[in-house]
Amino acid sequence: MKTRNISFKIVALLALLFIGFPSLAQDVAEGAEAVETAVVSEGESLPIYKRFGMSDTELFSWLLGITLLLVVLVLVLGNTIRTVAKRYSDEINKGAKILLIGLLVASPSFASAAEADGAAYDKVIVMDSLTFWHFIIFDILLVLLAFHYIRKIHGLLPDFAKPKSIINWNKLRKEVTDTVPVEEEASILLDHDYDGIKELDNNLPPWWKYGFYVTIVWAVGYIFYYQILEIGNLQEAEYLQEMEEGDRAVAEYKAAHPELITADNVELLEDPSSLAEGKSTFETYCVSCHMENGTGGIGPNLTDKYWIYDGSIKGVFTTISEGADNGMVAWKEFIPADQIQKVASYVLSLEPALPPLGKEPQGDNIFE
Ligand code: HEC
Repeated sequence: MKTRNISFKIVALLALLFIGFPSLAQDVAEGAEAVETAVVSEGESLPIYKRFGMSDTELFSWLLGITLLLVVLVLVLGNTIRTVAKRYSDEINKGAKILLIGLLVASPSFASAAEADGAAYDKVIVMDSLTFWHFIIFDILLVLLAFHYIRKIHGLLPDFAKPKSIINWNKLRKEVTDTVPVEEEASILLDHDYDGIKELDNNLPPWWKYGFYVTIVWAVGYIFYYQILEIGNLQEAEYLQEMEEGDRAVAEYKAAHPELITADNVELLEDPSSLAEGKSTFETYCVSCHMENGTGGIGPNLTDKYWIYDGSIKGVFTTISEGADNGMVAWKEFIPADQIQKVASYVLSLEPALPPLGKEPQGDNIFE
């Protein structure tokens, strides 16, 4: 009795430390919290309490509800013991007191969650990981305490009143495996005897047999689903569909990350919408020197086959990104790479405008 009392006190003390100490450290934690939020906004690691798909208010309400239920459970159990056995009264009273103190010590962190957030008035409750873990630790302690009480009540019951274990494991194993105990093996021994090797006539284990039946039922369903009613896609269609989805995801990712396009991997675009975008970029930034339709002014004629620099898509992309002599700017400072790709493609799509329509050639004819 004495030792139990002491261990209970130690557990309760640890609980207090657990719950109380982080509260003191709250201010420090709040600074860390700000960093955490910054990381979250980049979509890297989400703290656990953000992963429930609930708003802060909902999560807080759930946690509070569960905690209150547990508190009630623990109080009821404690009361039961007190009624059954007066001699535990003291311990129960202490347990209740310690719980109450724990709740009080942790309350600043619960309360901080309930503070109104100045920036967002629609958010009354703001969760942080400190509050979340306080709840979790407090709830775990309550559950442990409940189990402690239940065991105590179990111990107080006279033997005939103790509930039987709900699952009879021995019986269950027998039903699932249908084995014959070693002592009775003689009853299923077949009369073969090959050089001393004998054979038992065991039944098939029921777990195996029913598993087999399940596969038969499954196979019928499978055939109907895929082959007869053709509800599901066969492998090939599924493969093509997934490839399509993959392509779409890649395209979306590339669109969101223009910096992935470089002179090394840039490709010539020929679809009308990209060329139209390229044209509009050209009209914004380039016509002042290369003139309408790229026929050349201060800058060279971009429509002919003569190029001062590399006239391939990679070369044109590089010239536009990195710039050149005589006032040709390094446009990568002003235009995102995917737009440079489009304007480069547009430049390469231009109709030839030879002199006197365009400026006389500069550079080499790359086709000769
Ligand atoms: C301030 C005037 C100016 C502007 C604006 C300008 N360029 Fe140029 N660009 C030039 C000059 C000058 C050259 C020739 C560089 C040289 O002689 O080394 C040139 C060269 C080029 C070349 C290489 C031509 C070759 O023969 O190799 C390309 C391609 C080009 N410009 C595209 C563009 C595009 C696209 C834009 C708009 C985003 C643009 N330029 C805006 C002045 C300009």
